[in-house]
Amino acid sequence: MNSTRFLREFISKPSVTGALAPSSSFLAKTVVEGLRLETAAAVLEYGPGTGVFTDYIARELRPGAKFVAIEVNPKLAALFKAQHPRTNLVEDSVANVRTICDRMGILSVDCIVSSLPWAVFPESTQMELLDATMTVLKPCGKFVTFAYLHGLTLSPGKRFAELLPKYFRSVSKSSVVWMNIPPAFVYRCTK
Ligand SMILES: C[S@@+](CC[C@H](N)C(=O)[O-])C[C@H]1O[C@@H](n2cnc3c(N)ncnc32)[C@H](O)[C@@H]1O
Repeated sequence: MNSTRFLREFISKPSVTGALAPSSSFLAKTVVEGLRLETAAAVLEYGPGTGVFTDYIARELRPGAKFVAIEVNPKLAALFKAQHPRTNLVEDSVANVRTICDRMGILSVDCIVSSLPWAVFPESTQMELLDATMTVLKPCGKFVTFAYLHGLTLSPGKRFAELLPKYFRSVSKSSVVWMNIPPAFVYRCTK
């Protein structure tokens, strides 16, 4: 059901959805690995889509931690809300993350988990969203995002890989998660 809805969104908005299918649980586990979410006071999720990563994030958070997901596609936002009624979801673009955090009384965040399809964004959008990210992420805060293996052969994917070290003081890559359609890896970045 989620896969069908997701595919429909990909067909109608390929440059926003950026994937044919929801992420796998194997990718979700790799994304949250090493984040030490239990120590975080505030966490954001970018582009949760159907919310595959959301439960993996939420189950590690301590009581009282702030957790906000930001999804731009109204149809995926509605699906997400129906399936994750206890998670705070803001239907907006990550470009507005500073305003969103101000509205929710969040000064800065410890960690951001992103599912945004960076490899389909033009450079101006990649930079706009990374600039916005830097306004809310704490010093030493963590930013994780995944990329599809084949995306590294495309120029926006290569450009994104080159941009990350300009924004973060450390950037590393996980090994490839083959049990995902398509195979993917995770960038782990520290501000
Ligand atoms: C690759 S999909 C997410 C897949 C997700 N991990 C899942 O398994 O369902 C990318 C998501 O980012 C969202 N998105 C794209 N641009 C966005 C933006 N500027 N702000 C917020 N969400 C955005 C899309 O609508 C889509 O839900």
